[in-house]
Amino acid sequence: MADPMIQLKDIRFAYEQSEEEKTQPLQYALDGVSFDVARGSFVAIVGSNGSGKSTIAKQMNALLLPTSGTVLVDGMDTAVVSQTAPWEIRKKVGMVFQNPDNQLVSSIVEDDVAFGPENIGIDPAEIRTRVHQALTLVGMYEHRKKGPHLLSGGQKQRIAIAGVIAMDPECVVFDEPTAMLDPKGRREIMGIIRMLHGQGRTIVLITHFMEEAAEADRIIIMEHGKLHADGTPAEIFSKEDLGVLGYPFAVRMARRLRKAGIDVPADIVTDEQLAEYLCRSK
Ligand SMILES: Nc1ncnc2c1ncn2[C@@H]1O[C@H](COP(=O)(O)OP(=O)(O)O)[C@@H](O)[C@H]1O
Ligand SMILES: [Mg+2]
Repeated sequence: MADPMIQLKDIRFAYEQSEEEKTQPLQYALDGVSFDVARGSFVAIVGSNGSGKSTIAKQMNALLLPTSGTVLVDGMDTAVVSQTAPWEIRKKVGMVFQNPDNQLVSSIVEDDVAFGPENIGIDPAEIRTRVHQALTLVGMYEHRKKGPHLLSGGQKQRIAIAGVIAMDPECVVFDEPTAMLDPKGRREIMGIIRMLHGQGRTIVLITHFMEEAAEADRIIIMEHGKLHADGTPAEIFSKEDLGVLGYPFAVRMARRLRKAGIDVPADIVTDEQLAEYLCRSK
């Protein structure tokens, strides 16, 4: 790959075993995973519970280090850099988790967004600019003086994202950011993810919503700690049996339309693409 943002090279990872587990063979949460994330790309990672998605996310910004193999973030070996300058990795790759409550640390929104930049020693004037920009980007500037506890789940998640954006990372890894949100909150977060990708940032989105995965350039399916499939959304959703994962609405609808004799192209995977096609062929 010409310009990789993140490279995973044959990584294995085992969580620390409890005393009882020590009599059993070591269980690898990641068991020989290799792939690159191209700079500026939008990669979705899907897979059933326990398949290793969150463990991969944490490898991508050195919250976890591989038991064997190598993770390179913008060419930096996480195992080496985390010993000397862990912030170098965190500045490159931001993380947004499922539960916004676990990510907010301050009692005032704008302080929360400033927390990350303060920690990496950005000067106060620059922090103010970044906080303003980040809160504006996620549509939460007017709520800057509020306590996060007064906000909805979706609004809290937007604050968590603003906190990450204020660090100006080249890449953002989202670990099921919409899983705890209502449909409106989910749409808002997806809108922000699209916008961040539009700014040229690299996006890794872990999700169990296939409609969200369909918006990526590429989908990786994890299974039992291994990479099970890797392709464009059209390639992935053309497979006959995705098991528990299922298919996006547009793919299911396109199949029905084909059965009814309407020749919908195979690369249609989002609602927008389907609507456009149907309007064009009217
Ligand atoms: N903190 C932990 N300690 C021990 N085992 C863990 C821990 N977190 C996850 N695991 C195990 O690692 C495997 C992968 O988990 P995870 O990466 O969280 O999967 P996913 O995000 O796809 O649901 C699972 O078998 C899970 O039980
Ligand atoms: Mg997970």
